[in-house]
Amino acid sequence: MKRPVAYFAGIGAYAPARVMRNEEFAALGLETSDEWIVQRTGIRERHIAGPDENNRTMSAIASRRAMERAGVSPGEIDLIVLGTATPDRLLPATAVDLQAELGASRAAAFDVMAACSSWLYGLIVAEGLMASGNAETALVVGTEKLSTIVDWKDRSTCVLFGDGAGAAVLKRSRQGKGILSTYMRSDGTLAELLYRPSGGAARPFDQASLDDRSIFLRMEGREVFKHAVRSMSEAADRALDGAKLTGANVDLMIPHQANVRIIEATAKHAGIPMEKVFVNVDRFGNTSSASVGLALDEAITSGRVTEGSTVLLVAFGAGFTWASLVIRF
Ligand code: UT7
Repeated sequence: MKRPVAYFAGIGAYAPARVMRNEEFAALGLETSDEWIVQRTGIRERHIAGPDENNRTMSAIASRRAMERAGVSPGEIDLIVLGTATPDRLLPATAVDLQAELGASRAAAFDVMAACSSWLYGLIVAEGLMASGNAETALVVGTEKLSTIVDWKDRSTCVLFGDGAGAAVLKRSRQGKGILSTYMRSDGTLAELLYRPSGGAARPFDQASLDDRSIFLRMEGREVFKHAVRSMSEAADRALDGAKLTGANVDLMIPHQANVRIIEATAKHAGIPMEKVFVNVDRFGNTSSASVGLALDEAITSGRVTEGSTVLLVAFGAGFTWASLVIRF
């Protein structure tokens, strides 16, 4: 096990006030039901950003909460790594908008795009830059306004997603606290199982992409499900191996919140009982990059993660990408 370089000095999160319940999809003319959505996914409701909310505003609220808890001012941030699959603009990175919003004038800021694994990828990237002496204090954010890229006419995807943001301030580790092990992988041969066909440079946005709805997210749900279970299970094993721990040593597993059935299968594989698994997918749906940060924030504020807790974070997303970390709080 390596000596920890970085620890979590403060966590913050934000979810929009507007809560959309499963029952509301019928009013959009979709043939679905609360019963189907709860049975297949565990989701009951999700938060949806208002017209004046975007990743800049949501991530700024989450970041200010994290910075306040860490006792860090904007001028002390050396690095901002922001994960999102729904950038406010395609150029420049949303991270620089956040930097400007916070007044974090000393920071280097950039985005990572690893879909639902982005926040975990961001934490690992930040830890590496801290290890190489490029940063002492880092802000790592996951933020999504997925309501703008889902196809609200496609019942197989639009019921799954929600909006929100999560943030962590990482500082140089003391007393053995912090990130004990990390793991990250990708498989680009599977990209088209979950993607947005148009709107980028390969197929620029045009009237045809609006007409065929290819600017929206598309997913082969059943295939994604299988890979998610396999890859999250593998990621859990690798991070635990790296920390020389087993599932029995983990106080809490905080998985990416996509589907409670994926979470249950991953926990079973890792030998972690569901009492030691944090689940809030019922209230947030899948918030992609924001999901693990939102869950960690709730786990801390509800007292399920305290000083000394050993926590396993694990995520999987489009790409495919998957990643995991073991953290001593
Ligand atoms: O964030 C990381 C990436 N995302 C994920 O991890 C999501 C992974 N996938 C899943 O969570 C699940 O595959 C879904 C929740 C998306 C779907 O659940 P499923 O049990 O795999 O269902 P299915 O796609 O096999 O569909 C079963 C049936 C289909 O009807 P037929 O063909 O059996 O007649 C669908 O058309 O359910 C139908 N269906 C719906 N019915 C009511 C699909 N969506 C809905 C819906 N309401 N919203």
